[in-house]
Amino acid sequence: MNQINPPKGTHDIYDLEGVANQYIETIFSSLCGFYGFSYAQTPIFEHTELFERGVGDSSDIVRKEMYTFKDKGDRFITLRPEGTAGIMRAIVSNKLYANTDLPLKYFYSGEVFRYERPQQGRFREFHQLGVEEVGVNSIYNDIEVILLGYSILQTLGLKDVKLKINSLGDKQSRDNYRAALKDFFADKIDDMCEDCHDRYNTNPLRILDCKVEHDQEIVRHAPIMRNYLTEKAETDFVETLEVLNAFGIPYEVDNNLVRGLDYYSGVVFEFHYTSKTGQNYGAIGAGGHYDHLVEEIGGPALEGIGFAFGLERLYAVMRDDSLLEGIDEGLDFYVMSVGTKSFTDAFSLLTSLRASGFKCESSFDGKGFKQLFKRANRKKAKFAIIIGDDEVDKEVVTIKNMLTEEQFMVPYAQVIDKADELIDELEAHSHHHE
Ligand code: HAM
Repeated sequence: MNQINPPKGTHDIYDLEGVANQYIETIFSSLCGFYGFSYAQTPIFEHTELFERGVGDSSDIVRKEMYTFKDKGDRFITLRPEGTAGIMRAIVSNKLYANTDLPLKYFYSGEVFRYERPQQGRFREFHQLGVEEVGVNSIYNDIEVILLGYSILQTLGLKDVKLKINSLGDKQSRDNYRAALKDFFADKIDDMCEDCHDRYNTNPLRILDCKVEHDQEIVRHAPIMRNYLTEKAETDFVETLEVLNAFGIPYEVDNNLVRGLDYYSGVVFEFHYTSKTGQNYGAIGAGGHYDHLVEEIGGPALEGIGFAFGLERLYAVMRDDSLLEGIDEGLDFYVMSVGTKSFTDAFSLLTSLRASGFKCESSFDGKGFKQLFKRANRKKAKFAIIIGDDEVDKEVVTIKNMLTEEQFMVPYAQVIDKADELIDELEAHSHHHE
């Protein structure tokens, strides 16, 4: 029969990528915990209107990239194209702002969907790890969130992260800037792409994001946001940068960074990273401050700040820079039974070892030692425990250190104690070398 291919832009995750994703999620959630964030989950699909209002009508996401369909009850449903809008909706639906101290701090992870042209580091189904801090009123909340993102990347071993940062100011600043952009592009827009015509009318800020080369040339000479910030917005931005300096967080102000989602105001940022292979996967994470998003979806006037990492991109740069070696810790013991007489005893040993907290495995297909040692090596077992027919008769096992090849016999009754001792010894040894 014909094989069925995966849909374009999707991918299966297994082996190293599977282990890596769990590792990345563990580091991510543990650091979020340290910063006082708690875990939240929202539906993978929402009413289409949520994203139209939240992410915004003028964004590429809403205009072109959403997986939207009518369900059997004739409702317009959309597979989430990002995580922020859903968290805001949950905050409003459950009135979370009413019975908890502000700011609310949530982290989340899961799949998101965008109908984009697939390429290196760009999928139609991908995974985001994100945080949102809502009900904020100090630049220190912004800084806390940026610092969290930065520390997660440092902890994952991505040392040379480039933090690009800009400010989109408050509404007044953006109104001023939009007017200036309209002036600037008025006599140029006829020469620009079809999308830019639309953007000129709906949201001229989006023109700055245009990927068409000819248009980028024109954009290069456009006025910059920074010069249209109100005094308050400029002061906040300068203060934010000063605190980042004080904490030794390297950044680069990028005047053209406007971000593709409509909800941003104030500080916006992206984390970039070039792996040793020189491969560019785009931003590995991005976020910013939003003033009116909660109101936009029917809640009170609460400001927030957040970011999301792209899990596929984190994995790709870590793999390229060999940061994943050793994260698969492997088994403590590989139990080898040879000869059918030993299966029962081997299985019972395997069960006791697991109950005592050791990672172990065995196989029951009657293969010989040579094969079993190969398997144990592939599973990165620290020790092999061998039970052959001879051993069963004597009620002993042979334990072999897979690294040093040293081996010795241990009576059945003492195997668990010995296992404890061996693993403790190994751990003490590895700490000693750290
Ligand atoms: P975003 O920049 O659209 O922001 O996406 C965040 C991250 O998701 C990107 O930096 C990138 O790593 C990853 N990403 C985006 N598109 C793709 C794709 N097609 N394939 C693979 N990875 C991708 C947001 O979604 C905002 N919700 C972030 C945020 C949270 N802002 C405030 N709070």
